Amino acid sequence: MKNDKNKIVYSGIQPTGILHIGNYFGALKNFVVLQNQYKCYFTIVDLHSLATNFDPKEKLKQIMSLAMDYLAIGLDPKRCTIFVQSHVPEVAELAWIFNCITPIKELERMTQFKDKALRQKKNVNMGLFDYPVLQAADILLFKAGLVPVGEDQVQHVELTRDIAKWFNARFGETFSLPEALLTESPRIMSLTEPLHKMSKSMGEKSYIALTDDAKTINEKISKAVTEPSGVIDEKKIKDNPGMMGAYNLLEMLRLLGNKKQYDRFRKMKKISYKDLKKAVAHELADHFELFRKHRAVLEKSPAKVQKILEIGARSARLEAVKTIEEVRKKIGIR
Ligand code: TRP
Repeated sequence: MKNDKNKIVYSGIQPTGILHIGNYFGALKNFVVLQNQYKCYFTIVDLHSLATNFDPKEKLKQIMSLAMDYLAIGLDPKRCTIFVQSHVPEVAELAWIFNCITPIKELERMTQFKDKALRQKKNVNMGLFDYPVLQAADILLFKAGLVPVGEDQVQHVELTRDIAKWFNARFGETFSLPEALLTESPRIMSLTEPLHKMSKSMGEKSYIALTDDAKTINEKISKAVTEPSGVIDEKKIKDNPGMMGAYNLLEMLRLLGNKKQYDRFRKMKKISYKDLKKAVAHELADHFELFRKHRAVLEKSPAKVQKILEIGARSARLEAVKTIEEVRKKIGIR
């Protein structure tokens, strides 16, 4: 796997507001590691985010907020390229070209589309349907080989491979086939409905935002759903919200790296959830303290953040232009 090191990594997150610890353990934590191993692009995919209901007055704030999250969590613009998707217009052009070689029936299979269309019945727009093609354009524009994503995005990466194959077959070898990189990406569950994945859609009490202070974390964790038995029976957790809730708290301890505490609670015949919650809240507050400090500094210097995004876009465009020129020639418009 030696030449793996030469692979390019691409991933993006939609700017839709604050990030929670599910986003951290599922994505950001891996990004921070990957930037030291590969040439990486980490994008703020604003164009994708337009397909879901949004307020134009909020969008720029959301973009800046995600940029600050990226930087505060430890993405280093010297080690990776951080940019806003719409600052690289070539991506939209490539998406259009891909549209013209992608059969509609392939997009109709996408489970994310079906889920999202159900969630916003009044706004089932073309962007929502075409979302995976734009994602393919993101990835292939930078000739990325590895795409760190969660389980729910695997189908989109597979479609990206198909689009690359269709393009190559019709216009000549241009794109190599990217792979999804599924690093251990544990599912952090909702605090209030532990049978569901942590998500912003279930209300503020259901998630821990990366920006939550110690007091807020304490309040939210102390109210997290568990159940009175103090026993975690692996066979029962799948349909027992309280047990899953308790298991979720234990998982957080493990993921936060406090093995000693984790083992201590794990060994208890009857776990004291009060103590467990105290320990989890403490670890969480501690783990993201530096992030919060770093972010508070960045919030005071938005111009600096904008500069980083500008430099990122400039360097991303250098690559983007190369690919799009090659594509234009291959399809015969130049
Ligand atoms: N669809 C991804 C998500 O919702 C975000 C995304 C857009 C992305 N473009 C991408 C992820 C390219 C990886 C690569 O999580």
